[in-house]
Amino acid sequence: MLLALYICFLWLSTSGLWTVQAKEPDVDISIRSHHRDLAPNNVDFAFGLYKHLVASTPGKNIFISPVSISMALALLSLGAHGYTRAQLLQGLGFNLTETSEAKIHQGFWYLQRLLRESGTTLEMTMGNALFLNQSLELLESFSEDTKHYYELDALAIDFQDWARASKQINEYIKNKTQGKIVDLFSELDSPATFILVNYIFFKGTWAHPFDLESTREENFYVNETTLVKVPMMFQSNEIKYFNDSVLSCQLVQLDYMGNGTVFFILPDKGKIDTVITALSRDTIQRWSESLTSGPVDLYIPKVSISEAYDLGGLLEDMGIADLHNSHANFSGITQEAQLKMSKVVHKTMLQFDEKGMKEAAPIEVTQNMAPEPLTLRFNQPFIVMIFDNFTWSSLFLVKIVNPA
Ligand SMILES: *[C@@H]1O[C@H](CO)[C@@H](O)[C@H](O)[C@H]1NC(C)=O
Ligand SMILES: *[C@@H]1O[C@H](CO)[C@@H](O)[C@H](O)[C@H]1NC(C)=O
Ligand SMILES: *[C@@H]1O[C@H](CO)[C@@H](O)[C@H](O)[C@H]1NC(C)=O
Ligand SMILES: *[C@@H]1O[C@H](CO)[C@@H](O)[C@H](O)[C@H]1NC(C)=O
Ligand SMILES: *[C@@H]1O[C@H](CO)[C@@H](O)[C@H](O)[C@H]1NC(C)=O
Ligand SMILES: *[C@@H]1O[C@H](CO)[C@@H](O)[C@H](O)[C@H]1NC(C)=O
Ligand SMILES: *[C@@H]1O[C@H](CO)[C@@H](O)[C@H](O)[C@H]1NC(C)=O
Ligand SMILES: *[C@@H]1O[C@H](CO)[C@@H](O)[C@H](O)[C@H]1NC(C)=O
Repeated sequence: MLLALYICFLWLSTSGLWTVQAKEPDVDISIRSHHRDLAPNNVDFAFGLYKHLVASTPGKNIFISPVSISMALALLSLGAHGYTRAQLLQGLGFNLTETSEAKIHQGFWYLQRLLRESGTTLEMTMGNALFLNQSLELLESFSEDTKHYYELDALAIDFQDWARASKQINEYIKNKTQGKIVDLFSELDSPATFILVNYIFFKGTWAHPFDLESTREENFYVNETTLVKVPMMFQSNEIKYFNDSVLSCQLVQLDYMGNGTVFFILPDKGKIDTVITALSRDTIQRWSESLTSGPVDLYIPKVSISEAYDLGGLLEDMGIADLHNSHANFSGITQEAQLKMSKVVHKTMLQFDEKGMKEAAPIEVTQNMAPEPLTLRFNQPFIVMIFDNFTWSSLFLVKIVNPA
């Protein structure tokens, strides 16, 4: 079990935390350490989604925020009925016999709150917005529940005029992300009438920064035939490192300020898909146990990535099939029309740069006794996993094939 490693249980006081949930009297409030309640399900879902995406887009960069997708789908289930509702929650990996719906939503409510607190040190903005045609009236229970558990904004938009509607949505998202996410839709996109947008922007501050002066343009080998130039960051530090001879990869673990922790995984040439197939809670557990600190000269491309996905097709592959089709039952959102989801858009943005909290430590003059630092150069396709170490949320799963 992944969680067994981190036995730092936080005993939360009753005051405040559960008071907002007074309307759910059946909740067991005798256990206070709820901050990783959803972690096993969410992490399994995260790897499942990532693997599906990797398989369906070979040779492409991949960049998703699984925990925010889980959240978006869970909130959507509040407006779904019948089979659609069960499908959404089971698709997220929940066994409804074991975990009640109330528990799931409370779990996400709490998770969101913790992540938002972490966000103050991580520079992270995440959220969901639902847009639907202005002719439709939202059911009050849906507005209330989604606002309460997920702080969802549900907005009425005049979808008759898609050019104007798409601009309005873009403005809204831009405003919510402090200008970081712009132009989500273009006028040329196919018009939609019912859209869920899930967005996340993240920029961490390294606990140990990269050396600003040392960033150099270097070769990155995309594949046998393609080479691109990328700005390569450098730091020389005591770093947690592991050479996994079973999976043919090397990895390091770096920390962000706050609870952010990042695994950079460098598979041997041609092994990236093997490593991705093997990603699981057990693998992370094994890696966490095997990492050892030592002097490492680390080279990592300075990248800023941004991707947008319409998750519809992907979710269908994963068994959540009734969002777009005529079996969709969103009668919990509005009763006036039989809604079908037009788009489930996931927009992510991530920046890696050199900056850290402290000044880069001057590289110490090597003493005779000190071991030779190991050199690790991320100059071929690699994997990045960013976790929130407090809630064990999978903030980002990334596959970088071509950083240029
Ligand atoms: C949706 O589910 C509700 C509750 O189960 C049911 O009353 C309604 O008939 C369903 N609507 C459709 C279109 O299937
Ligand atoms: C859900 O949990 C129940 C009780 O633990 C178990 O009997 C059932 O097989 C589980 N269902 C699935 C689909 O795993
Ligand atoms: C959207 O709302 C407008 C009125 O504001 C209405 O004329 C139109 O038929 C609605 N479209 C859909 C798809 O519901
Ligand atoms: C976002 O909208 C609010 C309210 O409309 C406004 O006060 C604020 O200045 C806007 N922020 C940005 C970054 O546009
Ligand atoms: C190598 O990468 C380039 C650029 O992404 C791509 O066009 C090409 O098809 C790839 N070649 C192979 C053999 O995968
Ligand atoms: C990693 O381990 C493998 C197998 O033990 C070995 O062949 C390889 O040289 C090691 N790589 C590094 C960089 O130490
Ligand atoms: C980790 O997250 C928790 C919950 O948001 C917060 O209370 C704690 O201060 C964070 N730890 C650090 C080191 O930032
Ligand atoms: C997670 O946090 C615990 C306690 O704060 C710390 O001991 C551990 O090293 C951290 N793990 C990772 C992977 O950062």
